[in-house]
Amino acid sequence: MKHRQVGVNRVGIINPDGHAIGLDIGATAVRAAILAPGTMDGRPSVTVHGIGQVELASGVVVKGEVREPDSLTAALKQLWATHKFECRNVILGMANPQVLVRDLSVPNIDAERRAKALPFQAKEVVALPIEDVVLDFSPLETSADGETLHGLLVATPRRPILAAVNAVERAKLRVARVDLASFGTLRAIAGERLSVEAVIDLGAHLTTIVIHNHGVPRLVRTLARGGDDLTANIADRLSIEPSQAELLKRQGGLDHEDPEVARALVDSLRPLLAEIRTSVGYFRSSRGSAPIERISLTGGGANLRGIATAMSDQIGLPTSVVDPLQHVRNRLASKEVRGAEMGGAPSAVSVGLAMGAAA
Ligand SMILES: Nc1ncnc2c1ncn2[C@@H]1O[C@H](COP(=O)(O)OP(=O)(O)OP(=O)(O)O)[C@@H](O)[C@H]1O
Ligand SMILES: [Mg+2]
Repeated sequence: MKHRQVGVNRVGIINPDGHAIGLDIGATAVRAAILAPGTMDGRPSVTVHGIGQVELASGVVVKGEVREPDSLTAALKQLWATHKFECRNVILGMANPQVLVRDLSVPNIDAERRAKALPFQAKEVVALPIEDVVLDFSPLETSADGETLHGLLVATPRRPILAAVNAVERAKLRVARVDLASFGTLRAIAGERLSVEAVIDLGAHLTTIVIHNHGVPRLVRTLARGGDDLTANIADRLSIEPSQAELLKRQGGLDHEDPEVARALVDSLRPLLAEIRTSVGYFRSSRGSAPIERISLTGGGANLRGIATAMSDQIGLPTSVVDPLQHVRNRLASKEVRGAEMGGAPSAVSVGLAMGAAA
C-alpha cells in the first residue's frame, strides 16, 4: 500500500525519536496514534508507543470541516499535555464528502512535469473550480508499453485543509503531511490475505468506504452520513434530548427492547445501507473486478449492536468489525495500558496515517 500524499512543507514525517504520529480530527474527538515503523524478520512492522484522544464539543468539527478552530487548537494542546507526547511532527488526516477519488491514466513522464499537467487532466472530472482543490495523483501501475501510468486522482477541497492545518499549527504542532483519512483507515483495517475487501469507517457525521484489491484502493467514497443521524432520528421520534437518544442507541442497538427505538434505528440506517449497496454495485459492475470477499467495519458506529448482521443481510457479504491495531506488533502489551492511561480506543484513521509514514 503506497500512496503519494499532499506535502505541506518540509517537516520530517518521522520525528527525531523515530516515531510517526497520525492525527485524526473527527466530529466527536481528536485522536493521535504514535507508532514506530521498523522491520522484523526482514518485513515491515510497526509498534505502538502512544495513543490518546480528547473529546470535541458538538459543532467544532462538522462533516470533516473545522468550524471552531480555537476549540480544536485547545483540544490538541490538552491532548499533548495530558499524554506528555514529546514529538510534534504529525500526519494529518482529511475527510470530506467533497473529496473526489477517481481512476486516471496519464502519460508516463517525470513526476514534476506530471504535477504541472495534472490540473489540465483533472479539469474534466473535478466539479469544483480547479483553484479550489488540492490535487494529487497516486500511481498504481504502468501500461505494458511503458507509455501510460494508471493511478488514482485525489482532489481535496483546499479551504478545509488550510483551516485544519492552521488550527493544528497553532497548537505548536507541525504538519509533515496531509493524507486522506480513508487511506489511513485502509492501511489499518485491510486484511493482508484478502484479495478484494470493502473497508468501511462508520463515523458520527461521515462514512468512508474503500474497496481495495490487495491493499490498492480501487473505489473510495465519503458519504455525508453517520451515527449521529441515528441518534437524531431517535430523538425526533421519541421527542427526547439527543443525549438521552444517544444512550438508548448504545443500550440495545438494532435489537433494542423498545420497538420504537429499534424501528427508529433501522429506518435511519436504511439510506446509509442503500448508499453502501450502490458503491458495492458500482464496483461489481466495473470492468474486470474480482468478487468482494468481506466487509470490514471500524469507527464508533461499528459499535452499534447488530450492525454487522444488518449490513451482511443488506449487502449480501460477510461483515465483521476489525481491530485498528491488528497490524501493530506490540498491540497486546499496549491494550493493557490502553484502557487505564491511554484514554480510549485508537481510531483506524490515526493508526493507519502513522503506518503510512513508512510508505
Ligand atoms: N456503542 C455504540 N453504539 C452505537 N453507536 C455508537 C456506539 N459508540 C459510539 N457510537 C457512535 O459512533 C459515532 C462516533 O464515531 P467516531 O468516533 O468514529 O466518529 P468521529 O471520527 O468522531 O466522526 P467523523 O469521522 O464522522 O468526523 C457517534 O455517532 C456515536 O453515537
Ligand atoms: Mg472519524
